[in-house]
Amino acid sequence: MQDETAMSTAIEAAWTVLGSTSPNPWVGAVVVGPGGERYMGATEPPGGRHAEIVALEAAGADARGSTLYSTLEPCCHQGRTGPCTDAIVTAGVARVVVGIEDPDPNVAGRGIAALRDAGVAVEVGVRAGAVADQLAPYVKHRRTGRPYVTLKLATTLDGRTAAPDGADAHRLRAANDAVLVGAGTARTDDPELTVRLADGRDPRRVVLGRAPHGARLHPASEVSGPLDDILDDLGRQGVLSLLVEGGPRVAHSFHSAGLVDRYVLYMAPALMGGSDGRPVLDGPGTDSMSGVWRGRIVSVRRLGPDLRVEMEAA
Ligand SMILES: NC(=O)c1ccc[n+]([C@@H]2O[C@H](COP(=O)([O-])OP(=O)(O)OC[C@H]3O[C@@H](n4cnc5c(N)ncnc54)[C@H](OP(=O)(O)O)[C@@H]3O)[C@@H](O)[C@H]2O)c1
Repeated sequence: MQDETAMSTAIEAAWTVLGSTSPNPWVGAVVVGPGGERYMGATEPPGGRHAEIVALEAAGADARGSTLYSTLEPCCHQGRTGPCTDAIVTAGVARVVVGIEDPDPNVAGRGIAALRDAGVAVEVGVRAGAVADQLAPYVKHRRTGRPYVTLKLATTLDGRTAAPDGADAHRLRAANDAVLVGAGTARTDDPELTVRLADGRDPRRVVLGRAPHGARLHPASEVSGPLDDILDDLGRQGVLSLLVEGGPRVAHSFHSAGLVDRYVLYMAPALMGGSDGRPVLDGPGTDSMSGVWRGRIVSVRRLGPDLRVEMEAA
């Protein structure tokens, strides 16, 4: 239980740096000293210190004989910074508790092995489900080379497109490395796609097709071609997470190709009725119940007057 509580603290620390570490993972760490003192760390922006080092430096001499909790397996290779495993051993940490193994081929269990070889006790898998969920974009990117795709949909309760753009939608932007809209949305709505109603940095902006000269979302990358290739390219450029903001044709393209990892629906207590409103997924559907796409609800929240539903493929 003590391990779970400390890992939860490390997970909380990692949330505070989401959006600022890509292409590196957003990791949280806690050093619990021999007397029970806690020292926290979270990944610094690229080129900065890893979470474990931040926590170890905060602990100073208290790191000797301590337990270090890290959401992700400590690295053992020389990247922009030195191997964390060396620093952990040098600091005299007695035990390391890890959330999940690092899927990056440069690590993939070698960090854990290096610690054990140096005589450090290592336990893996504490709060692994929560950590895997928190790091899902990083894990997908390292395994497939592609960004984790979130599709945002704003709908009335009868499934027609509604006006989006609350503070929560801006938080989603801040949490993603890139945000994509179709040329139709660029032409009709002229969105900025920046983060204004929440804290955080602006994501990189991507348009499927061409955006008009002078559109407010510029500077943006204009991309075209098969969506698979576009995702591969973005992944190669270090985009770990992509937020697709529509519109309905683009949403349909990503959905029908099975390229969406998570759906975020903002549902307004409104009924448009009639047949004039646009469906949120605009394209060929299915005419049989057996062909209906089914998902799994991950969370449901009230957000002011609206409902916020998160869903994954079943
Ligand atoms: N409720 C919501 O969540 C939400 C969110 C965003 C926008 N919207 C609304 O959606 C409307 C615009 O939507 P829309 O459906 O007309 O346009 P859209 O989905 O934003 O963009 C469609 C356009 O993107 C280009 N494109 C390039 N590759 C594509 C691909 N693989 N799949 C689909 N499109 C591709 C094409 O541009 P070309 O025509 O140039 O070839 C296509 O016409 C606006 O009225 C906006 O207000 C609603």
